[in-house]
Amino acid sequence: MRRGTAIFVVINLIIIGFLVNACSTLISLLFEDAARFAIPAAEIPAPDSSLNESRTQLIPRIIHQTYINESIPLKWQKGQQACVDLHDDYEYILWTDEKSRDFIAKEYEWFLKTFDAYPFPIQRADAIRYFVLYHYGGIYIDLDDGCNRRLDPLLSYPAWLRRTVPTGISNDAMGSVPQHPFFKYVIELLSDYNRNWVLPYISVMGSTGPLFLSVLWKQYMRNHNEPEEIVRVLMPAEYKGHTWSFFNISKGSSWHGQDAQTIFWMGKHWLFLTVSGFVVAAVVGGCLWWLWSMWVMNSGKTSHGRGKQHGFWSRITGGEDRYELVDRMA
Ligand SMILES: *[C@@H]1O[C@H](CO)[C@@H](O)[C@H](O)[C@H]1NC(C)=O
Repeated sequence: MRRGTAIFVVINLIIIGFLVNACSTLISLLFEDAARFAIPAAEIPAPDSSLNESRTQLIPRIIHQTYINESIPLKWQKGQQACVDLHDDYEYILWTDEKSRDFIAKEYEWFLKTFDAYPFPIQRADAIRYFVLYHYGGIYIDLDDGCNRRLDPLLSYPAWLRRTVPTGISNDAMGSVPQHPFFKYVIELLSDYNRNWVLPYISVMGSTGPLFLSVLWKQYMRNHNEPEEIVRVLMPAEYKGHTWSFFNISKGSSWHGQDAQTIFWMGKHWLFLTVSGFVVAAVVGGCLWWLWSMWVMNSGKTSHGRGKQHGFWSRITGGEDRYELVDRMA
C-alpha cells in the first residue's frame, strides 16, 4: 500500500473510532429490544378482572397531561375525558405553560434558566413531564393518547416507559413513583443535553425528546440493576391496538403546527434518520477518497515535472522523489 493511502486510511479509522465511541449508546440502542425489561402481557390482568384490585400499587394515582392552556382542542377532548372518567379516584393535573413555569420557578429554580431559554415550546412540554413525574410521581399521558381502560396494573412497577417500533422508547406515556432514580438522572442531565444540533428537529429530539430519553434510559440501565431502580417497558401491544391495551390514540394534527409534526415524524423515525446519517457519512467519505486518489495521481505527475518543490507533499503521498527529500534532510 502506498504511504499516502495508509495515512488516509489511518486518519479515517481514527475519525470512525471517535464517531463510533461517541455514538456507542445510539448504536447499542439499535440492538436493544427491551425484552429483559418488558412488562409481560401475562402480568397484566384483563380490564375487568378482579385481579386488578389485588395487586400492589406503588405509583401514586395521579394523571399528568400538558397543554398550552386550559382550552383543549376538540379533537383531544374525547380522549382526555376518557382518562378522567375512567379514573374518578385519581388526581388529574393539566400542566399548562403558565402552571409549568410557576412549578419550575418554585421547586426547581436551578433549572429555570434552561427551561426559559429552550427555543422550542415543545422542549418545555417535554421537560416538564420529567420534573412532575420525579416530583409527584404518577402517570404522564400525551393529550393524543386517550385512555382505553383503567391504568391500575401499571401502578405496580416503580417506573416504566413505552417502547417504540423498531427501537427506542418514547416519552408520550410514562409512569413513576416520586423521586425515582431514573427521573432524577433525567432531570439532572437535561441541561447538559441542551445543545444545538443545527437542525431544529434533531435539537429537539436530542435535547428533551424521545431520542434523549432513549439514550439516557440505555445509559442508566447499564449500571442500575436493583429491582426498585429498574425501569420497566410497556410493549407496543399493551400500549395500543387491542381491547386489553391501555391507550387509544386519536389521529389529529399536532398542536404546534407543521414544525412539530415534522418533529413527531422524526421522533418516530429516528432509527431511519440515524442509519441515513451513517449512509450519508459513508458517501461523503467515499467522495473524499475519490478526490484524494485523483489528487494523488495528478500531483504524482506534476511533481516529476517540477522537481523538488513538491518534496513535502510527495513524501506524504509516496511520490518517487520522497527519497530525495529524506536524503537531503539526512
Ligand atoms: C389557548 O391557546 C390557544 C392556542 O394558542 C389560543 O387560541 C386560545 O385562545 C387560548 N385560550 C385561552 C383561554 O387563553
